[in-house]
Amino acid sequence: MTFANLLVEDRGAVRRITLNRPDKLNALNHATLTELHAAFEAAGRDPAVRVVVLTGAGPKAFVAGADIAEMNDLSPAQARDFSAHGQALMTRIERLGKPVVAMVNGFALGGGLELAMACHLRFAADTAKVGQPEINLGLVPGFGGTQRLLRLAGRPAALELCLLGAPIDAARAAQLGILNKVVPADALEAEVEAVANQLANAAPLALRGILDAILLGGEAPLDSGLDYETQVFAVTFSTEDMKEGTSAFLARRKPQFTGR
Ligand code: COA
Repeated sequence: MTFANLLVEDRGAVRRITLNRPDKLNALNHATLTELHAAFEAAGRDPAVRVVVLTGAGPKAFVAGADIAEMNDLSPAQARDFSAHGQALMTRIERLGKPVVAMVNGFALGGGLELAMACHLRFAADTAKVGQPEINLGLVPGFGGTQRLLRLAGRPAALELCLLGAPIDAARAAQLGILNKVVPADALEAEVEAVANQLANAAPLALRGILDAILLGGEAPLDSGLDYETQVFAVTFSTEDMKEGTSAFLARRKPQFTGR
């Protein structure tokens, strides 16, 4: 599958999707959103893919937001469709059923931060800046930013970033829980490769159970979420990987997980 605005490359079981409009700081136009839908759909369907790494091309940006030039003359009805298209992509990524790691190599602003927040882990260069600057354009975040930022970092941070619109540096974003880890820019590739390989070698059905329990169970009342966790826990006992993981521990050897 080839794309105009994305690069897709497999490194073993790790699929790397790179937004590739560096001259526009990888801004999300309609065509790129559509390509991302297709790329994530394909990654979700392919059993050989166990982890996805998402990043931006060029030295400056992960993604500098939704495409402002394209948004400039949208009608409210078109804007509603654009928001729904973007939100559906974020939900597709969040519900992929396999881990998605955002490699935040520079600006993650507006739709760029919304995209990163839909991923399950966010590793960033110390030079990255993140924010929800829509207010400066007379706009509101439209790809899930108000909701995911609220859930990730709480009401004070969500209100500050969305109301004031000023980007914050990576170190502060990590303090707020928006980024998982910040490393020197020249160490980011190696750091993400290591974590992606670790995830690629983990038991896929257990990874999926954890994603479901936290992302879906976590949206339910506590009793229902706990009950859901119990169901997911019990299901892992029907997998070969659970037998392999526990047996390997007892035999003091490294487990080999197959996804069965
Ligand atoms: N949509 C469309 N194009 C964008 C864009 C966006 N969100 N962000 C950057 N670009 C384009 C610029 O228009 C410019 O294109 P040009 O060279 O054809 O004029 C190119 O990307 C480079 O951006 P530039 O602004 O010149 O880079 P910079 O280093 O001076 O500034 C930013 C970087 C990120 C601070 C600045 O580009 C910016 O503020 N972008 C918009 C961020 C934003 O508001 N995002 C939320 C959108 S809802």
